[in-house]
Amino acid sequence: MNGSRKQLYVKSFGCQMNVYDSRRMADTLAPEGYSETLSPEDADLVILNTCHIRDKAAEKVYSELGRVRRLKQAAAARGRRVVVAVAGCVAQAEGEEIIRRQPAVDVVVGPQSYHRLPKLLEEAARDGKAIDTEFPVDDKFDHLAAPSAAAIRARGASAFVTVQEGCDKFCTFCVVPYTRGTEISRPVRKIVDEVEHLAAAGVREISLIGQNVNAYHGEALDRRPWSLAQLLRRIAEIGGIDRLRYTTSHPCDMSEDLIAAHGDLPELMPQLHLPVQSGSDRVLAAMNRRHSRADYLDIVRRLRAVRPDLALTSDFIVGFPGETASDFDATLDLIEQVGFCGAFSFKYSPRPGTPGAEMADQIDEDIKSERLQRLQAAIERHQAAFNRSCLHRRVDVLFERPGRHPGQLVGRSPYLQPVQATAPATLIGEIAAVTIVEIGSNSLFGTLASQTPACAQARDFLATGA
Ligand code: 5AD
Ligand code: SF4
Repeated sequence: MNGSRKQLYVKSFGCQMNVYDSRRMADTLAPEGYSETLSPEDADLVILNTCHIRDKAAEKVYSELGRVRRLKQAAAARGRRVVVAVAGCVAQAEGEEIIRRQPAVDVVVGPQSYHRLPKLLEEAARDGKAIDTEFPVDDKFDHLAAPSAAAIRARGASAFVTVQEGCDKFCTFCVVPYTRGTEISRPVRKIVDEVEHLAAAGVREISLIGQNVNAYHGEALDRRPWSLAQLLRRIAEIGGIDRLRYTTSHPCDMSEDLIAAHGDLPELMPQLHLPVQSGSDRVLAAMNRRHSRADYLDIVRRLRAVRPDLALTSDFIVGFPGETASDFDATLDLIEQVGFCGAFSFKYSPRPGTPGAEMADQIDEDIKSERLQRLQAAIERHQAAFNRSCLHRRVDVLFERPGRHPGQLVGRSPYLQPVQATAPATLIGEIAAVTIVEIGSNSLFGTLASQTPACAQARDFLATGA
C-alpha cells in the first residue's frame, strides 16, 4: 500500500464498456491507497470516464468539468489538492485539447492506457500535467489489478467482463473505430480466469461486453480462435454462473453457432440487444452497415425459431443524411415487424472525421426531433405490450439490491426488466421465482412465487404452461 488513504470519485459516461473500465481503474488505484467515494466533494482524485459517440455526450463532459473545476478551486482554498483526470473516448479523441479548454484537468488518459494511471498521477504531481493516448501493443488487462472479493460483492451479483474491444466496421456515422481502434479479442484463458474469480466471490450473472462483441475471436488453449458461442459455452460450465448475456452485437456477426446457442444454452438469457439503426436499405447502405433490412429480419426469424420468447432491443438513428420520409417509414415498419421490447434511439449527430459528417443532405434538427418522437412512441407501445404480456406470469428474478420501499428488493427478469418484490434481504444475490402482479411504467411488481396464493399459482400455471 502506498501512503495514506485517499478518496477517488469516478463518473462514467456512455456505454457499459466505460462502466467496466471505471471499475478496473478503481481496482488499479486501490493498492495506491484510493478508496471509492460517491461524493465528488470528498474526492482527492476525480476521474471522468468519457464518451465521444455523440456531440451531446462530449459537451456533457465539458460542462461536468466546469463543475469539477469549481470543486477543485474550493478545495484549494482550504489547502487541499484535487487531481482531475479525463479518461475514455473524449480523452482519446481530443488529447491535450482538453487541457487547453479546461486547464483544471491534470491527467488525460486514453482507454488503452488505464494501467498506466498510477504512473501518470506521479508524473502529474511532478510536472503539473500528464497525457497518454497511445495504443500500446500489449493487453492493458494484463496490467489492470483484479478487484478484491469485497469490491466484487459491493458491486453486486451481476458483473460485466470485457472480452473484446474496438471495431473494424466503420459505420459512416460512428467514431468508435477511430477512438477505440481496431478489433482485439482477449484470450479465452484470461476471460475464464476472471469469471472464475468473480464466481468465487458470489457473482451469478455475467455480461460479456465489447464494442463488437459477437466478432469475438480470442485465442483458446489450443491456439485456435474461438467464437463468442464457444466462449459462452465454456463460461456456462463455471460453477455459480447461472446467467449469461452479451452486448453489443453487429447483425453481420450473428453466426450460425451463436444463434444455435440461444436455443440450447439455458444460461444464455432470452434477451438480445441487436442494433439495426435503420429499416431502410438505402440508409443502411449509406451508413455502411453491410446488411440489408431483409438480412436483419432473417436473423430475427432464425433467433426466434430457436428461442420463441427472445426479447429484442435495438439502437436507432433518425435523420441520417439523406433520410427521406419514406426511409423513415421503413424504419417504423421494421419496428412493427420485429416488435422490439426496448431501444436506444438518437438523432443523427455529425461527428468530425467520420464520412457521415461530410455527406450532403444533412437533415434539419426539427425533422430529426419529430421523427425521434414518433419512433420512441412506437417503441414505448411495444415495450408496454411486452411488459403487459408478463402479467400473472412467473419469472426468475436475480435480486440485486434493496428496492424503493422498505422490505422491497429490486432485481432483473431474464428479459432484463427491473422487477420490484417484497422479499427478505437475504435474497440479494440470489435468483427466485416471482409472480408478476402489476405493471408499472418503469418496473414490474411481483410477489415471491413461494408466497403467491394457490389460486394465483394455478393462474400462473395456465398462463405459462410451466
Ligand atoms: N449520431 C447518433 N447516434 C450515434 N450512434 C453512434 N454514433 C452516432 C452518431 N454519430 C448510436 C448508434 C450506436 C449507439 C451506441 O450510438 O445507434 O449503435
Ligand atoms: Fe460504431 Fe458501427 Fe462499429 Fe458499432 S459496428 S462500434 S456503430 S462502427
